[in-house]
Amino acid sequence: MNGYGCLAAYYDRLMTDFDYEGYLGLLRKELIGGEGIDLCCGSGRITVALAKSGKKMTGVDVSPEMLGEAAKNARAAGVRPVFVLSDAAAFRPQHKVDFVTCVCDGVNYIPTKKLPAFFDGVADMLKDGGKFVFDVSSEYKIKHIISDNVFYEDHEDLTYLWSNSLFAGGVRMELTFFVKDADGKYTKMTEEHTQYAHGRETVESALRKRFSFKACDFETMGRVGARTARILWVCEKL
Ligand SMILES: C[S@@+](CC[C@H](N)C(=O)[O-])C[C@H]1O[C@@H](n2cnc3c(N)ncnc32)[C@H](O)[C@@H]1O
Repeated sequence: MNGYGCLAAYYDRLMTDFDYEGYLGLLRKELIGGEGIDLCCGSGRITVALAKSGKKMTGVDVSPEMLGEAAKNARAAGVRPVFVLSDAAAFRPQHKVDFVTCVCDGVNYIPTKKLPAFFDGVADMLKDGGKFVFDVSSEYKIKHIISDNVFYEDHEDLTYLWSNSLFAGGVRMELTFFVKDADGKYTKMTEEHTQYAHGRETVESALRKRFSFKACDFETMGRVGARTARILWVCEKL
């Protein structure tokens, strides 16, 4: 199945270790202006929360299944962001906005050599002085924590295996799900994702032409170190 075709239905349930509240706290401090775009919005956790806090939001994702979950989450929260099915790298809004976000690995799905064009596209979405906030799973995390490793979760109705293999530019992830049917039988489903390992210097040299920026370790909110797992950048369009 295509990336997120199976995972979408279980994504929110399985994402218990990602600190969305911490992220939203930072976004509320950093983001100014009333209108934003959430690239690679997934099930809309950030899009919906920002819409609830009064921002006019557009969520963009390449997975119809994830956008389906996002639409459900928005309905449940009583907000109406616009959701657009598009490759984030190809998305061109009709007018410029105050901020763009790309949360939890979205940028790891963009091939490293396409980063300069991707960041150029993001800058073009923004008004002058607009903010762009994003994170990546670091090269260290991809190469030394995730790769050549298997992770799993085993629940009564769902068993999930996440098996990762390193290649020169990043990691291939094979996800296997065993989902319990109403009659007690399990159905097996698989999907694959590719994430690219972007070195900090590579990201920053791609940003430099269009943005000023600061980076931090997402866990500590302090300096980025050799073993930082997630690097977060807060950027301002030049
Ligand atoms: C790890 S999820 C993060 C979702 C969401 N931002 C969050 O914080 O929960 C990554 C998302 O990126 C989307 N994605 C991957 N490649 C993409 C691309 N080229 N354009 C748009 N979305 C993409 C996937 O469909 C998935 O929903």
